[in-house]
Amino acid sequence: MMKKEVPLEKAHRLINTGCVLLVTSAYRDRSNIMTLAWQTPLSGRPPRVGIAVALPHFTCELINRSKEFALNIPGAELLEQADRCGRTSGRAVDKFKEVGLTPVTAQKVQAPLIKECLGHLECGVVDHYKIGDHAFFVGEVLAAFAEEELFASSYWHEEAKLLHHLGGKQYYISGQREEAN
Ligand SMILES: Cc1cc2nc3c(=O)[nH]c(=O)nc-3n(C[C@H](O)[C@H](O)[C@H](O)COP(=O)(O)O)c2cc1C
Repeated sequence: MMKKEVPLEKAHRLINTGCVLLVTSAYRDRSNIMTLAWQTPLSGRPPRVGIAVALPHFTCELINRSKEFALNIPGAELLEQADRCGRTSGRAVDKFKEVGLTPVTAQKVQAPLIKECLGHLECGVVDHYKIGDHAFFVGEVLAAFAEEELFASSYWHEEAKLLHHLGGKQYYISGQREEAN
């Protein structure tokens, strides 16, 4: 098979397969939702995750101020809402109201969780770096929850259809679990 050259600014699309997250953040009386694909687990003990948030985003400002965020895992039925939360800034609009998602109180952070999502990680920022045009926040996971029947034995069940972003308006939906020998 022939390999084609990929433009460097599109190279990240070759490895961009982590599930799409809805990042919630809050500071004083403002809270917000933003869609995020650039995420990675970083450490098991202590439990840490990383997210890359573009510097101009309202979310970046709220996380810089509050030093906290929550990661909410949408199922495929939230594709349209997830896409819309990734195309408008929360500076001028309340995205919870605009897309019809329900904020619920988190246990360890001020940022609300999104009731309709399948799982949640509540995180406190322990480090941050400026990497090009993004801020990379390292979050310590302070609390985590998942739908009981979809995360039985601590693996996502096949019925948990998670979203994976291919770029632009293109998504994959996960659905087939395989076990290696
Ligand atoms: C599927 C999808 C994935 C996205 N992933 C990221 C990401 O990883 N990092 C980022 O900074 N922006 C990402 N965006 C763009 C932001 O979600 C978008 O610019 C959003 O409007 C920022 O909102 P805010 O200004 O309210 O924080 C993504 C958008 C979509 C639709």
